[in-house]
Order: sequence, then C-alpha cells, then structure tokens
Amino acid sequence: MGRSVLVIDTDPQANATIGLGVYPESVQKNIYHYYISHCSDSKSGTLLSDYIIKTISGVDLIASHLDLVGAEAVLYQNPDRYYILSTGINQIKNRYDHILIDTPPFLGQFMMNGMIAADHLVMVFSPDTFAIAGYDHLTMIIQDISEILGKKVRISLAILNRWGAPLGKPETLSEKIYDFFGLKKNHNIDSLNEIRTQLETRIRVEIPEVVIVHEGKEISQSNKQGIPLIVLAPDDPAVQGFKAASQIIDTLKPGGA
Ligand SMILES: Nc1ncnc2c1ncn2[C@@H]1O[C@H](COP(=O)(O)OP(=O)(O)OP(=O)(O)O)[C@@H](O)[C@H]1O
Ligand SMILES: [Mg+2]
Repeated sequence: MGRSVLVIDTDPQANATIGLGVYPESVQKNIYHYYISHCSDSKSGTLLSDYIIKTISGVDLIASHLDLVGAEAVLYQNPDRYYILSTGINQIKNRYDHILIDTPPFLGQFMMNGMIAADHLVMVFSPDTFAIAGYDHLTMIIQDISEILGKKVRISLAILNRWGAPLGKPETLSEKIYDFFGLKKNHNIDSLNEIRTQLETRIRVEIPEVVIVHEGKEISQSNKQGIPLIVLAPDDPAVQGFKAASQIIDTLKPGGA
C-alpha cells in the first residue's frame, strides 16, 4: 500500500526477523542490545534508531535474537523497565506510517513494553490458542494487565489465523472451541461456517474488528525468501485475510483513538 513500515521484533524466537528474510546471527545490533543498554537506567541507554536495518521487502526492521531471553531478568534493575520501548519509539515514530511490534506470546517484560508502547493491539488467535486458554481466562489476563499498566488495554483487531488448517477430526476443533468459549456442548454446531459465526459473534462483543485468515500454502516459502506473500503468491488462500487485516490497521488512528 506504499506505506513506510518498521517492524520491531521483540520475541526471542525471532520469527518476524526470519520471516523478513533476515538471519538473526547476521545482525550485529539487535533489540537485545537495545534493552541491555537500558538495563539500569533509561537515560544513558542507546537510541532505538541505531538498530534499524533495511530488508528486501522494503520494510525496516529492528531484529531479534535468542539472546533476548537473557535480558528479561537483567531488566528488573531498572524501575522504568516497562517504558524502555515506548521511550525509544517516541523518538522515531514520526518517520513511519506504521510501527509493528511483535511480542513474545507470554506475559513478561517484552509483552508489557510492547503493550505500553502500542497505540493499538492486534491479537492473533491461532488454532493452538484454543487449546491453551479459555476466552474468559484471556479477558481476565487483559484486565490484570490494564490494572498493572494503569491504562485500559483494548484489542483493536482480532485475527483468527490458519482457518481450515488440518487439525484432526472436525469434532476436535469444535470441542476445543466449545471449551474456549465455555459454550454448552449440546449446542449443535456441525459446520465450519457455523463455528466461524460463533467465534466472530463472541469476539466482536469486545473487539471491534475480526478478520479470518485462511491456511496458506506458500507462507513458509514467503518466510524463507523474505518476500511478502502478496508479492510471491498473490492467489494464496491466506492473502485475502492478510490484506483485510492490513487495510484495517491502516485505518487505525495514532494515540489509540
Ligand atoms: N495463515 C497461515 N497459513 C499457513 N501457515 C501459517 C499461517 N500463519 C502462520 N503460519 C506458520 O505458522 C508458523 C508460526 O507462525 P507465527 O510465527 O506467526 O506464530 P505466532 O502465533 O507468532 O507464534 P508464537 O505465539 O509462538 O509467537 C510459521 O511457520 C508460519 O509460517
Ligand atoms: Mg509470534
């Protein structure tokens, strides 16, 4: 869409880095070094702009690395530890139309930093989300986080990812979804479309936008080459959903309004 975009990868697994065609070992200065430089005192730390690299896709990147796991404990020394990322972003945000922060899937320093820095939250529900926690459990966690942060945490967009992925028998998927939403099992849902309606209706109560992304065929190829899926395989089943998600993100206003 011709927007200038920065991706900040703050997940030690570095999937966003790798997906943009960058091998974590090849990057000299990554998000680990940024956080570590702020481990005791935010003022003397490095600038986030020192860590920006270009990628083949045209998107700018601040790369992650497995080393980031080691920064988590060290950051406890800094009383302002939850604000390290937002302080850095404030100095570069006027350079970009969008800054996307990828956080780890678990609650810790990096997810908190991401949530504080972000104007909007996007939550990806993957098939395994349904296996892990119930929706009420998830809403409770979000409430807890709101209290810790002292600001209301709201999710602007939910992405129901990998729709139609082979998950074993359809009953297994519907049972997971029943459990996830605490629905009664005798409620007769027997087609994927009906399950989808249930999901969307339930999530839409609290999340204004919901997008379904289908299981893609060329995503691993797109990750390997660092080429956006829409360029590499415009007819891939996942493209439409990702496109819809990016259009919604494009309409979100700065400042969380
Ligand atoms: N719609 C899709 N179709 C097919 N494969 C997908 C799709 N979305 C993600 N994948 C693949 O699933 C794997 C995990 O994806 P991704 O890293 O986005 O998950 P994640 O939810 O961020 O995981 P985590 O919660 O561990 O951070 C990747 O290999 C990716 O290529
Ligand atoms: Mg991830």
